[in-house]
Amino acid sequence: MSPMPFFCTDDARRLARRRLPRLVFDYVDGAAGDETAAALNRSALQSIRLQPRVLENVEARSLVKSLLGQDYGLPFGIAPMGMCNLVAPGADRLLTEEAVRRNVPHCLSCLASTTLEDIRARSGGHAWFQIYVGQCMALAKELIDRAEAAGYEVLVFTVDVPLVGRRLRDLKNGFQVPFRMGPRQFADFAVHPRWSLRTLLSGAPKPMNYETAENAVGFDRNASRANADWGFLAWLRNRWKGALIVKGVMSPADALRVKAAGVDAIWVSNHGGRQLGSAPAAIQALPQIRRTVGPDFPLLFDSGIRSGEDVVKALAMGADFSMLGRPFLYAIGAAGAKGMTTLFDILEEDISTTLAQIGLTSVEQVDGNALASTPEPHGDDRDVPERLVELAHTAKG
Ligand SMILES: Cc1cc2nc3c(=O)[nH]c(=O)nc-3n(C[C@H](O)[C@H](O)[C@H](O)COP(=O)(O)O)c2cc1C
Repeated sequence: MSPMPFFCTDDARRLARRRLPRLVFDYVDGAAGDETAAALNRSALQSIRLQPRVLENVEARSLVKSLLGQDYGLPFGIAPMGMCNLVAPGADRLLTEEAVRRNVPHCLSCLASTTLEDIRARSGGHAWFQIYVGQCMALAKELIDRAEAAGYEVLVFTVDVPLVGRRLRDLKNGFQVPFRMGPRQFADFAVHPRWSLRTLLSGAPKPMNYETAENAVGFDRNASRANADWGFLAWLRNRWKGALIVKGVMSPADALRVKAAGVDAIWVSNHGGRQLGSAPAAIQALPQIRRTVGPDFPLLFDSGIRSGEDVVKALAMGADFSMLGRPFLYAIGAAGAKGMTTLFDILEEDISTTLAQIGLTSVEQVDGNALASTPEPHGDDRDVPERLVELAHTAKG
């Protein structure tokens, strides 16, 4: 058996940093503004302590987690990421094939470099589809029709990008989609010949769902998406008969209103700190959102998860399921398909070991009792109008 290329996400990140052109690594690794929201996502997760327990029989442990009526093999999945094939040709397909092998969801971004039909055909139902709305309403509606026709059962509507956040690394590197190569990018690619050759041979990745759309309007990554509003969410709930998840909620008041709109689940996230540099850590927002939507309403969580212990912490703080973004691209950037498998193995083993340390035999048992101390609530319950609380608790779900 070949040796493991890395033993933790940080090692994978370091390897990816060496192997990828700076422009590509920074696109994956970077965040908005002064990048403090991304840093806080990490430090807040690290400050959460789990309670060790002893003399429980924890010989047999289960990592199976149920979400939206489906049993997944692990309590986490793959968050949507645009332009993954920049990291390595075929990255979207690698992600979906591993998701099928591990029985976890892979949420495909509408900005993926592979068509939604291609990924659905390979996924055997593990693929979810994520949309942004804006720029062109006809295009968004066309993508929803295509997702339905392709057989997607779960649609994720990302709501935290009214405008793309100011990501200074991308601005400084001249990062653009589609690519335009100037002398600086050329120098960057020249010192990473392995990446450049493979990418050149496969052709520069493109946002394929947009390239293949009838209503294609010349893709502009920075176009405003600010016209997506509560009215659109009401329209979408009515239009999409499958499961609908709203991604990017950080405020309890917004969570209640989203729940009242009849969605099936809320995805608590600050977009990995890529949108608002001054946003609080997403994990801090989670317990209060859990309290306001009630104990049974499905909540997903992402932003800053880097280990199996972090996945368990998110469950303990009120999530039903976690999603990870950057770690998968670090893993592929570090070691391709082998990196992907290694990362899943590491996370799986870490979750299982963590369960044993805290005296539990199933991820379904993890709740607030697993915490060594009660987390400080973030924000103030008084921010949530009574009217909304009532509305949300009488709503579907
Ligand atoms: C390279 C990259 C591209 C992303 N593209 C999208 C996207 O197209 N749609 C979306 O909803 N979120 C997108 N995200 C955000 C992720 O879905 C997720 O919220 C975030 O990465 C979670 O934080 P983490 O990277 O710390 O795990 C992207 C994130 C990264 C790193």
